[in-house]
Amino acid sequence: MSVTILGIESSCDDTSAAIIRDGVILSNVISSQKVHEQYGGVVPELASRAHQQNIIPTVDTAIKRAGITAEDINAVAFTRGPGLLGSLLVGTSFAKGFALGRNIPLIEVNHLQGHVLALFARSVEDQQPLPQFPFICLLVSGGNSQLLVVRDYLDMQMMGTTIDDAAGEAFDKCAKIMELPYPGGPLIDKNAKLGNPDAIKFAKPNIEGYNYSFSGLKTSFLYHLRDQLKLNPNYVQDNMNDLCASLQSTIISILMGKLHKLVKDTGIRHVGVAGGVSANSGLRQALIDYGQKHNIDIYIPKFEYTTDNAAMVAVAGYYKYLGNQFTTHDVAPLARMEM
Ligand code: KG4
Repeated sequence: MSVTILGIESSCDDTSAAIIRDGVILSNVISSQKVHEQYGGVVPELASRAHQQNIIPTVDTAIKRAGITAEDINAVAFTRGPGLLGSLLVGTSFAKGFALGRNIPLIEVNHLQGHVLALFARSVEDQQPLPQFPFICLLVSGGNSQLLVVRDYLDMQMMGTTIDDAAGEAFDKCAKIMELPYPGGPLIDKNAKLGNPDAIKFAKPNIEGYNYSFSGLKTSFLYHLRDQLKLNPNYVQDNMNDLCASLQSTIISILMGKLHKLVKDTGIRHVGVAGGVSANSGLRQALIDYGQKHNIDIYIPKFEYTTDNAAMVAVAGYYKYLGNQFTTHDVAPLARMEM
């Protein structure tokens, strides 16, 4: 029998709905919220209100684009956490209502697991190879920087995580210092293409094991600007591309250093990347080069599956459905949630 799942993602500032049928993505609709741009970051209360406005039209579009009807859906998967509580509440409540109304099962999904499973999101025309188990996943999003060993779709072990800022935060906070609009990651990526990555040396952390730290880099960036601005008030504008290129290459070097250590220690020859920062062109290229140099298979998600999206929630929901891992209706969203 064919299995069709509706996936819903509302953990931060993107309302998204997707349909997966027998492991194949039929639609993935993302409504981004523009309201936060003027504040330089996501405003939680505004995010939940926008989710409430967006959720019904987004789900409706996902169902229509998939060429199915609501009656064809066998289960609803939703992001339970981690994320902004008010935002998660909208997706969770909608999923419960939909499941109750249609008398179908409800499936909770961990947002971080979802990001990793985005590597398995495929529409009919996608031909790229799927990751082989076990693989190492570098999960880099706005709030997380983690190294995982993924043994199966729902069997992931966290080997290292950030002890302070995440890689995405390092991009966003340094962008904010340079007065670039939120989120800063994509703009730094764009400017970095025109700059010299070796122009400025920033501090790199020295942390044991597989953990990451990015707050020292942020401080080093801030101090560099403070010193240079005393000499030239237009320092940031005059050196924007070099600043972006040097910052980006430092972040990539920190990420790749710990990844390489885990590859060496485990002997695992398959490596994937996931999360919003995996859209970064420098990081994607660094991974491709690394794979060629060390003869390791590299898996990189399509751009639409890097930042928050419901396709990844639908993939997780599909494998949970196959394993009969359903949730009861008294489930509550969680702002913090382990892997
Ligand atoms: O995964 P995501 O959408 O949100 C979380 O679940 O946290 O990740 C958002 C993060 C932001 O920090 C954003 O600046 C970053 O991903 N990002 C990028 C790029 N595109 C998005 N960072 C660097 N380069 C990019 N091209």
